[in-house]
Amino acid sequence: MKKLEVFGVAKLKGQIRISGSKNASLPILAATLLSDKKISLTNLPKVKDIETMILLLRSLGSSIKDNKKNIFINNNKQTKTFASYNLVKTMRAGILVLGPLLAKFGKAKVSLPGGCAIGSRPVDIHLQALSKLGVKYKIIQGYVHANAPKGLVGANIKFPKISVGATENLIIAACLARGKTTLSNCAIEPEIKDLVNFLIKMGCSIKWTGNRTVKINGVNSLSEIKYKVMPDRIEAGTYLIAAALMEGSLKIVGMDPKIINTEINILKKVGSKIIKKKNEILIQGSKKIKNINIKTSPYPGFPTDLQAQMMVLLCKANKKSFIREEIFENRFMHVAELNRMGAKISINGNKATIEGNIKFEAAELMATDLRASVSLILAALASKGKSIINRIYHLDRGYENIEKKLKKIGAKIRRIN
Ligand code: UD1
Repeated sequence: MKKLEVFGVAKLKGQIRISGSKNASLPILAATLLSDKKISLTNLPKVKDIETMILLLRSLGSSIKDNKKNIFINNNKQTKTFASYNLVKTMRAGILVLGPLLAKFGKAKVSLPGGCAIGSRPVDIHLQALSKLGVKYKIIQGYVHANAPKGLVGANIKFPKISVGATENLIIAACLARGKTTLSNCAIEPEIKDLVNFLIKMGCSIKWTGNRTVKINGVNSLSEIKYKVMPDRIEAGTYLIAAALMEGSLKIVGMDPKIINTEINILKKVGSKIIKKKNEILIQGSKKIKNINIKTSPYPGFPTDLQAQMMVLLCKANKKSFIREEIFENRFMHVAELNRMGAKISINGNKATIEGNIKFEAAELMATDLRASVSLILAALASKGKSIINRIYHLDRGYENIEKKLKKIGAKIRRIN
């Protein structure tokens, strides 16, 4: 099994270009199922989750070709409506094919994604909302068996809780439903806005009418389209935190700073100097890192996908900090490993208390989920000596060329067997 060897303490300096967003690409790929027309997508990141979604689409009958830059999708012969456990188990976003399959064919059998390291992650909100569009479903042996005998019919739906995936599934499904759908209490992550831009460009009729409300008029036909996926704000945030941690000096290229204003303001509060430009962010990490208390929340709040990375940074703060995890109940898997490296983090329910002024020590480590893996790399970069990180397949699910990008800015990191 592959491992990463990381030598610290690293001096980070240089430029990093941000890849396309994984979390925008996944729903956009699922949404291509709505159409029979040719679709060309560019700026998809080269990461495992995208490969898995492409395999899933192919298993449903999509014809997908790619060259180095673009992928070309043609669904005019796509007829299958069965998404198998083998493909959905490794990537929860597999559930996003449910909405478009029901919208297009009126039936689907899709594996339940199951839990994962960061929590139970049910899909009840997706299913309840789809049933309001006329879907009947049963769960039999781990599969959602769903059909819409009279086709999908528009409805007014208020989500009981803000969910990124459920908002995406319902927006996609409603695009081909008969009549009007109003979705309120939606997630408004930038990736959802990107999905909506893609759908509108493809011919769907969608309008944001309030902060968390979107209105969709079902349409009958869609058009050919070329679309460029937005940059990955979590990747950008991760490298900004790396600079803040390592007193690094980085130029982050290809990211609109407006999208990650919350993160930028927090990093300024902990002491980093940041200059925002059009599609560029310059950061100079400070020698002194100030403590701060944060909580994760739906966009525009601080993202749960940067919580682990931020925790590493706060271990170096001048005083104690607190992080409250408000999105996932079990997203502190990185804490035990960070404590093995000398961190002093204690957990009480969803609240982490992080002692500051920590000197990290290199160690052999085990990655547990995608963002936890990258937090271990950050801690390893800040530790003197050699660290080894096992189970890095989690990392490959979501970070394109991470070793290459880190090497380019001065880190000593390599992949070993
Ligand atoms: C997406 C992101 C993930 C990110 C998360 C929160 C993708 C592919 N993944 O995941 O990286 O960490 O948003 O920003 O974009 N919930 C229910 N029932 C449901 C659905 C969700 O109880 O039917 C709960 C979840 O367990 C969680 C919370 O709602 O506690 C938010 O989850 P959700 O926003 O749906 O996350 P994902 O779409 O799975």
